[in-house]
Amino acid sequence: MDRIINRIVRLIRRGYSRGMIISEMLDDIDIFSKEKLFEIAKCRIRGKRKFGKLAEKLFFDEDGLRYSTPPEVAMYRAKRLRYETIADVSCGVGIQAIYFAMESERVIAVEKDPVRLKLAQFNAEVFGLDNIEFINGDATSKDVAESIKADVVFSDPSRRPEEPVRYLDTLNPSPIKIYEIYSRITNRIAFELPPQISKENIILDGEKEYTSLNFRLNRLALYMGDLKSCDTSAISIPSEEKVTDRDKRVEIKKETRPLLYLYEVDPTLHKAELLENLMGKLEFDGHTLMVSRRRTLLTSDEVYESAFLRRYNILATCKFDVQSIKSTLKKLDVGKVTLRIDIDPKEYWSLRNEIERDLMGEKKIHLFRMEDRALIAERESS
Ligand SMILES: C[S@@+](CC[C@H](N)C(=O)[O-])C[C@H]1O[C@@H](n2cnc3c(N)ncnc32)[C@H](O)[C@@H]1O
Repeated sequence: MDRIINRIVRLIRRGYSRGMIISEMLDDIDIFSKEKLFEIAKCRIRGKRKFGKLAEKLFFDEDGLRYSTPPEVAMYRAKRLRYETIADVSCGVGIQAIYFAMESERVIAVEKDPVRLKLAQFNAEVFGLDNIEFINGDATSKDVAESIKADVVFSDPSRRPEEPVRYLDTLNPSPIKIYEIYSRITNRIAFELPPQISKENIILDGEKEYTSLNFRLNRLALYMGDLKSCDTSAISIPSEEKVTDRDKRVEIKKETRPLLYLYEVDPTLHKAELLENLMGKLEFDGHTLMVSRRRTLLTSDEVYESAFLRRYNILATCKFDVQSIKSTLKKLDVGKVTLRIDIDPKEYWSLRNEIERDLMGEKKIHLFRMEDRALIAERESS
C-alpha cells in the first residue's frame, strides 16, 4: 500500500492530472477505490503542514486528515488519560488512538467507516504498535458496546463543517449517547468537543479543558467522573502550563495608559473565561488595555513569564492615522510593521504597504490599535 501511495504522490508532484493518474491505475485495491487511493496520496502531501515529515508515511482520507488530532495535543491527552485499557470509540484514522497506545497498555479503537478503520490500522503499523484492538462498527450499537471493557472511554466525534451554533447532539457519535451507554462500564469518560461550543450547551458534567496549541485555541476536552479535577481549565501546549477555575481570581482594572510592557493574552483564556485566574496566579500588577474575543491586551511595568502571555516592549504611542504612525516609526528606526489590528484581510497588505513605504530602518515592530491611538511595540525575544 505504501509503495502505491508513494507512486501516486510522485505522479502528483510531477504535475499529472487527477484524471490521468486514476485512468493509469490498474485496479481498486482491496476496499480502496482508485479515487480513494488518489485522495490518500493527496492527503499525504497536504498532511505535511500538520504532521511534518511523518506525513510521508501516514495514511489519511480528507476528513481523517482534517479532524485528526495534532501530535502534540494527542501526546498530552494520552498522558492525561494514561490507564491500563482505554477505548477510543470513534478513532478516525487513529492518530489519537496511536498516542494512547504509546502510553497505555491496551487500546480498543472503534470506527464505523471501514476505509478509515483500515487507514488507522496502517497508521498503527507505521508506528510499530501492536497493542491496539481494532473494531469496525457503530460504537452506539449493542454489539459493540457489550464487547468493550475499559478503564477509560474516549470519543472525538465528527462534527458538521458548517454549523452556526454547536450542540452535543449534532455530533457523531453523540456524546450524550456515548455517555448513556458507556457510563455502565466506567465513570471515566472523556470527549473532544468543538472548541467553539458554548459552556451552556455542554450539558454533561465534567472538566472543560480548553487546549491551546502555539497560542491558539485548538481543542476542548471534557473529562467526566474521576477524570474531572475542576470545572474549567486551560492548558497551553507544548509547555503544559495550566490555569484552572480553582486558581484565585483577581479582577484587573481597565485603563488606557500604557506602562513599560504590553502583554498579549492567548485567546484560549478568553474563551475559557480564565483570564482573572491567570492574573491571580501570576499576582499581576497592571491593567487591561483591551479585552475582546479576538484580542486581549494587558500592560504592566513588571516582567511576567507565562505561556499564555506574549510580552512586548512598548516603544511609543501616537494618533492612529497613517501620517502620524509613519513619522513615529521613522524616528524609531523601523523597517517592518506587523499589523495587529482588526482589519478586513483584503485591506491588510494595502495598509501595511502604505505604512512601510519609505521606512528604511532595522527594527521590526507590531502595531496595535486602542480606539484612536496607535501603540507601537517590539516583541521580546523575537
Ligand atoms: C473526528 S474523527 C476522529 C479523529 C481521531 N481522534 C484522530 O485523532 O485521528 C471522528 C470519527 O468518528 C467516526 N464515527 C462517527 N460516528 C461513529 C459511531 N457511531 N461509531 C464509531 N465511529 C463513529 C467517524 O467516521 C470519524 O472517522
